[in-house]
Amino acid sequence: MKRILSGIKPTGTLTLGNYLGAIKQFVKLQKKMSDCEFYLFVADLHAITVRQVPSELRKRTLDIAAMYIACGLDKDRTVLYIQSEIPQNVELGYILQSNVYMGELERMTQFKDKVSKQEKSITASLFTYPALMAADIILYDADYVPVGDDQKQHLELSRTIANRFNNSYGDFFIVPDPIIPEVGARIMDLQNPDRKMSKSDENDKGYISLFDDEAAIKRKIKSAVTDSIGIVKYDPINQKGLANLLTIYASIADRNIEDIVTQYAGQNYKQFKEDLGNEIVKVLSPIQENYGQLIKSQELQDILDRGRETASNYAFKKMRKCKRKIGLGRK
Ligand code: AMP
Ligand code: TRP
Repeated sequence: MKRILSGIKPTGTLTLGNYLGAIKQFVKLQKKMSDCEFYLFVADLHAITVRQVPSELRKRTLDIAAMYIACGLDKDRTVLYIQSEIPQNVELGYILQSNVYMGELERMTQFKDKVSKQEKSITASLFTYPALMAADIILYDADYVPVGDDQKQHLELSRTIANRFNNSYGDFFIVPDPIIPEVGARIMDLQNPDRKMSKSDENDKGYISLFDDEAAIKRKIKSAVTDSIGIVKYDPINQKGLANLLTIYASIADRNIEDIVTQYAGQNYKQFKEDLGNEIVKVLSPIQENYGQLIKSQELQDILDRGRETASNYAFKKMRKCKRKIGLGRK
């Protein structure tokens, strides 16, 4: 049986970018691929590569788990767990640090971006992050990893690391394939369409949080940057902001961009934006309602306990074999 695995970091709030690029994709795959196993985790160890407030980190970790289920994940078919609750993730992460080169890590654009923004206090773990990410994936022998566009490079490095290990020690890890959505893999900032929509953005007008209420969603879409051309068409070079809104529309409503363009032919942006705001509200309201129920429930705790148990069992056996292969320990 093929295994599909993904993770999400509990930093900042969850955005519409996370939903369209990753969560929705995961839920869709689950509906389509009835013969696959689904592993999904909250990557709290990745979050502490930058300083976090402990109480907020814990809250967000649970929030994300609840949000995933609220977004339509099938709880009976998903092994949902918290990364730090399975120590083998770290153990393999360390081993994989010994199978990746400084030069490879230095080339990671996400690292370079963060360094250029942060200047000081760059942690060592921010640098070695891709080794832990590779461990998250290959420890569970995942075949496919659905992620947004920004994780493509990390995924490629995970493949390199898995291949390197297999070449040195004999075939042992499955080399994972990424799954990147055709539409929605890169949702851009509403105020600055040159930048990806990000939950750590200081300007909250630039992103829609999955927790935003109806008024906030409508307001943010209304004030999203467009252009003075005034014609609804898909032109990501000259009409970047609008192209992003069209992408969001197509992705959230499961429609073709061309279809939407045809519908708004001859109209200005006002109606288009109003309708888009409504589409987003229509999707997010029931999700928020589900979330409200789940976050207080014992059910969420039970799901996470079950997830930890299943993932742990797999991780424990795989790690025992892995250490034997490398020559660690006595036998
Ligand atoms: P992160 O929030 O960095 O943990 O990302 C979690 C998942 O959401 C990853 O698969 C990302 O690729 C995806 N993602 C994050 N931001 C965006 C965005 N603006 N557009 C599309 N996908 C995104
Ligand atoms: N690095 C990913 C991000 O920032 C989150 C993540 C950690 C992940 N480990 C993973 C995603 C393993 C997929 C598979 O978005």
